[in-house]
Amino acid sequence: MTLLEHTSTGPDLAPLNDLIPQRFWTGTSHHAPEVYEVDCSDFEMNDADLRPDGELARRMRATFDSVGLVVLRNTRLTSIAAMREFAKIVLDAEMVYEGGANPRDRIEANVYEIGAPLAARLPYHHEMAYVSKSTRLISFVCADALPDRGATYVSDGVASTDAILATELGQKLKAHGVCYHRSLTDAENFVGEIGYGVYNHWQKSFGTDDPAVAEAKAIERGLLVEWGPNRLMKTRFYNPAFEYFAQLDRNLLYASLADHGMWFDTWPLVQHLPFAERPLHMTFGDDTEFTRDELEQFIKIYDDFGTKVDWRQGDVAVICNYRFAHGRPEIHLESGEQRTLGVMLGEQFDRIGQLPGKW
Ligand SMILES: [Fe+2]
Repeated sequence: MTLLEHTSTGPDLAPLNDLIPQRFWTGTSHHAPEVYEVDCSDFEMNDADLRPDGELARRMRATFDSVGLVVLRNTRLTSIAAMREFAKIVLDAEMVYEGGANPRDRIEANVYEIGAPLAARLPYHHEMAYVSKSTRLISFVCADALPDRGATYVSDGVASTDAILATELGQKLKAHGVCYHRSLTDAENFVGEIGYGVYNHWQKSFGTDDPAVAEAKAIERGLLVEWGPNRLMKTRFYNPAFEYFAQLDRNLLYASLADHGMWFDTWPLVQHLPFAERPLHMTFGDDTEFTRDELEQFIKIYDDFGTKVDWRQGDVAVICNYRFAHGRPEIHLESGEQRTLGVMLGEQFDRIGQLPGKW
């Protein structure tokens, strides 16, 4: 399965909101490529280079440890399986993907497809910030690249944390945290139908056809559950907006507007709905909405520290999920074009949130 299959074929309904501009960077990358790239031209990319004590492995780990980002370039690798072996040098333990997150289909063992249509803009986010278990790392490997576009952007988490804490918005996030609202539809209501308003069915998200089992699994993950009409499963999850990162001994910004209803601003079949009716939404932890000003400010804080990461086939990126957020603008393919990234998640951990005195 490739990402192409996600591209909508149904009628597009116009977006409802006046879209908040997202630039993803300032036009100049916050980090120069020399800081995070490892040129693999001089490596054979064979088993010897996979050895943990080898030169390539040491360079990868050292770059990752100091920057929180490493990208292998000029690997000449063409198979996702081979790229995955190199990513695993840094990914200590691959996480088996569990429910409660985006629907993804496996493209290789423990390599997952990006759970979003290419035509959708993906605002900056830290992976799995909206559930109680998150991942320390995320890796992207590139099977098919576009010659002139399709970059992923990463935003420096230390810089964005410092910037947001200097604002009233940051102080509100520190004081109240956030609430993640999700509305999971019932698959049985959509058999043979065009999926208007559909993002994820609870059956797929929790791997069961039994609403009682889905509810029990949700509660186990710390979610509050309510059922709406047509077996619509509505969950709420309250969590701090920051997460303590032991390596730097400080709290880092972990929440982003990818979990706000505006995530769907460019999604076919969903973009016409008001925020409160969209499949996911985020408010402050006291259940109050973000104002338009706050939304613009929150987006800009991530954009201000963005770095553009272009893709070529064979590239292997590993991103620290604390020190970087990731996202990308929408991508439109011409006929015959493909852009395929595999994603792997690293070791999972239980969110501990923000610690007092660690700012
Ligand atoms: Fe992501």
